[in-house]
Amino acid sequence: MCGIVGYLGFQDPKKIIIDGLKKLEYRGYDSAGIAILNDGKTKRVRAAGKIINLEEKLINENFNGHIGIGHTRWATHGAPNEKNAHPHQVGAISLVHNGIIENYLEIKKDLIARGAEIKSDTDSELVAHLVNEEIQVTNNLLLAVQKTLGKLIGAFSIVVMWEKSPNELVAFKDGPPLIVGVGEKENFIVSDVQAALQYTKNFVYLEDREIVHIHNNDLKYYSALGAPLKKQITTVDWNTEQVEKMGFKHYMLKEIYEQPRAVAAAIRPHINTELHSVQMESLGFAKSNSETFKTIDRIMFVACGTSFYAAMLGKYLIEQASGLPVEIDVASEFRYRKPIIPKNTLLITISQSGETADTLAAIRLAKEKGALTLSITNVQRSSIDREAHGHLYMNSGVEIGVASTKAFTSTIALLNVLALQIAKDRGAMTPEQEKNYVVQLLATPSQIEGVLAYDKYFSEAAKKLQTFKGFLYLGRGVSYPIALEGALKLKELAYMHAEGYAAGEMKHGPLALIDASMAIVVVAPTDDLIEKTISNLQEAKARGGKIISIGTGDNKALQSMSEYYLSIPASSWMAHPLISVVPLQLMSYHLADSLGYDVDQPRNLAKSVTVE
Ligand code: G6P
Repeated sequence: MCGIVGYLGFQDPKKIIIDGLKKLEYRGYDSAGIAILNDGKTKRVRAAGKIINLEEKLINENFNGHIGIGHTRWATHGAPNEKNAHPHQVGAISLVHNGIIENYLEIKKDLIARGAEIKSDTDSELVAHLVNEEIQVTNNLLLAVQKTLGKLIGAFSIVVMWEKSPNELVAFKDGPPLIVGVGEKENFIVSDVQAALQYTKNFVYLEDREIVHIHNNDLKYYSALGAPLKKQITTVDWNTEQVEKMGFKHYMLKEIYEQPRAVAAAIRPHINTELHSVQMESLGFAKSNSETFKTIDRIMFVACGTSFYAAMLGKYLIEQASGLPVEIDVASEFRYRKPIIPKNTLLITISQSGETADTLAAIRLAKEKGALTLSITNVQRSSIDREAHGHLYMNSGVEIGVASTKAFTSTIALLNVLALQIAKDRGAMTPEQEKNYVVQLLATPSQIEGVLAYDKYFSEAAKKLQTFKGFLYLGRGVSYPIALEGALKLKELAYMHAEGYAAGEMKHGPLALIDASMAIVVVAPTDDLIEKTISNLQEAKARGGKIISIGTGDNKALQSMSEYYLSIPASSWMAHPLISVVPLQLMSYHLADSLGYDVDQPRNLAKSVTVE
């Protein structure tokens, strides 16, 4: 969380930093600030709330100079007010920070004992104090930062600027991402390439415990202990257009609409469209894909949030298609439950950002315990991607809306391919079955288009849904993780109470909540479980609950008991979740929008959670 932009070059730093911060606002929007150095003086402006508040304050501020740092904050230590906004300034030192300093209480106590005047409630300001103390002794920014690092415990990244040396920035990464943008006579240091993509396509990814020293046009890299390092430049080919709204009211809506293309892009590299067969590209393991899949005894999935619900679906898909046992864990639990990872386990992480702290820690732990690891990420070269033995990419394009949509469907599409490939390699599927599944999977992008055509229906229904006091989302089988994801979307965006339940579990508790103010949203495709789901709905309806159902075809029984019935296209049991989640995304989007909420940046949330 938190977004960082540092700039040293020939252009207006204010413009570059503010533009960059706007691209990073998804990482946090509790406060924002900027510090620019000119004529030996640092000018700093900060504001609580979103970047727009900072921009308003900057209208009448003139900045000169060619070097500066900026920050958009997701609060961890200290309230989201101006006092706690970054950059922090102590003496001639200005600093921005992302992450957590675990030993901050001890540092604070020592600083106060030495007479330091601490102005904020943050752990970040304390780091600025320590650098300021060191620089009095060393009179050298790089050395002062290096000496400070030895006093800090935690997972954090920092960028530091020194008033007395207007041509240098020093940055350090240990945990949250920091990437150097290498330009022509200008350099950037950013939390995400999106913040500098407009100016350069060349980037150097800092690894943990690495320092970059930007001095004029010169870039030097060191280990935390000061050993010089050689780093490689990666050229990123993301198109800047992908980060614009392209006429949609919100990024989230644009991303919902991009799903047909995103799903197609996810599966394209792994499907032979002439033979209708799966042929996964090499995942990068030491052995071939098929040798790997034949020799593993189990799969463990680890992920957070929406990615965890994708993992849950992965369990249904892989176990049922191939008979291989699959376990799933929320990453924050996995790392602390002392997991047993038997021999021949393939551990798969799912993470759109590839930076989620708990998921990253989980993959590291699994590697330590000898597991083979595969990452499914959207952001190539992200920390999790770099950590894994094997790699699968969502290919969704940049996802900016905090609530994940197209990354989820792209992942489900990939999990379909993975489940089919594993089943094929382990001899659990006939060529006819494979062909049938692949044909249905290939049809899903146009089927999703079909569901999107109902958008108007959702935006009209949204206002009526505002009157419900709570929502219960139900599903069975592969529709159960979809019900959970539907409830999560509604909570995240519309701030309404919503719970996802396995339809058969409803009578073990949630039934007590049901009355006429409760909406029951059910995902019930016509499959071999439909009769059971309809019985569960009868129980809810008998108690006054109002039913909103998503079914397939002209399901009269479902239709007659529902206040709202939406028929979506039928597909294979494996691919259907790709289609059934779309109405739930649209429903949450329109409900939240009709309530006037900030859909792209829901309160208290952030897209990339790089703290535990
Ligand atoms: C945050 C986001 C969610 C996302 C989750 C996991 O909570 O708001 O949309 O699903 O993190 O993120 P990841 O990048 O690991 O998929």
